Amino acid sequence: MAPVKEASGMTLAQLYDLSGKVAVVTGGAKGIGQGIARRLAEAGASVLVVDIDAEGAQATAAGIADGGGTASSAVADLSTADGASAAVSTAVERYGRIDILVNNAGIYPMTPCLDLSEEVWDRTLDLNLKGLFFASQAAARAMSSAGHGGSIVNIASVDAFKPIGNLVHYDASKGGVVMLTKSLAKELGPIGIRVNAIAPGAIATAGTEASIPPDLPADALAMMEQLNNAMPLRRGGEPDDIARVTVFLASPAAEYMTGSTVVVDGGMLQI
Ligand SMILES: NC(=O)c1ccc[n+]([C@@H]2O[C@H](COP(=O)([O-])OP(=O)(O)OC[C@H]3O[C@@H](n4cnc5c(N)ncnc54)[C@H](O)[C@@H]3O)[C@@H](O)[C@H]2O)c1
Repeated sequence: MAPVKEASGMTLAQLYDLSGKVAVVTGGAKGIGQGIARRLAEAGASVLVVDIDAEGAQATAAGIADGGGTASSAVADLSTADGASAAVSTAVERYGRIDILVNNAGIYPMTPCLDLSEEVWDRTLDLNLKGLFFASQAAARAMSSAGHGGSIVNIASVDAFKPIGNLVHYDASKGGVVMLTKSLAKELGPIGIRVNAIAPGAIATAGTEASIPPDLPADALAMMEQLNNAMPLRRGGEPDDIARVTVFLASPAAEYMTGSTVVVDGGMLQI
């Protein structure tokens, strides 16, 4: 395959136009994945929202369709190799191809390392790292056998660079995602597949709300407010902060980027 070099002839509007592209977003029933699915559809992509939560995935897809976009949903457990490859094959069966894969599904059950069980370790690594690899492998196989390139965007975390505590299993998985992104970029670049990652900071989602331990002091919310105020950009993040950067990485605007991890954290790592 000849090196991909189309972007320099495009207008800015064309660079961000994903019309005709097919995207799979894992963990798109809510939170960051939902935000990403919405923005990719707004940019013109046909989006398959994949999640273990059938109702939530369906609601995300229906919301996109109500707004005039193209989306549908599928149920898969992204923590298994079979589930990961089924997510990709469903997109190819339904839309004829896959151009963009966003590996967003992830869990972050907070547990002190001294109490961490094998079950929580395996559950976290199976979804955050193993499933992410097998979904990427399935997408890359489909792109390669169809003779076109594509873009894979992995949702890592600032925890890959700086631990916040009680998440050794999660931090290991996200550190793995950053390295896996580089390894895949090296192997898949020559066949026109770019692989990049985003490291979000503190993003308000249903998942982050649920991860606050119930025995936290009553003023936990005040503490979180303090953290948000300590951010150089003086606020916590929202799913759309990550979604806009995902559209950029998935689009021809980022044609010369691969193997990168873009930190999107309001400056959190600088505190
Ligand atoms: N929210 C943050 O502050 C933050 C910060 C850094 C990184 N991240 C990363 O962003 C991603 C999304 O986080 P979020 O806060 O939106 O989470 P969330 O819990 O709000 O949403 C996660 C989605 O993944 C789905 N999911 C869970 N297990 C699954 C499985 N086995 N198969 C398929 N789908 C599954 C859930 O049903 C849910 O819809 C994760 O990878 C997370 O590690 C989040």
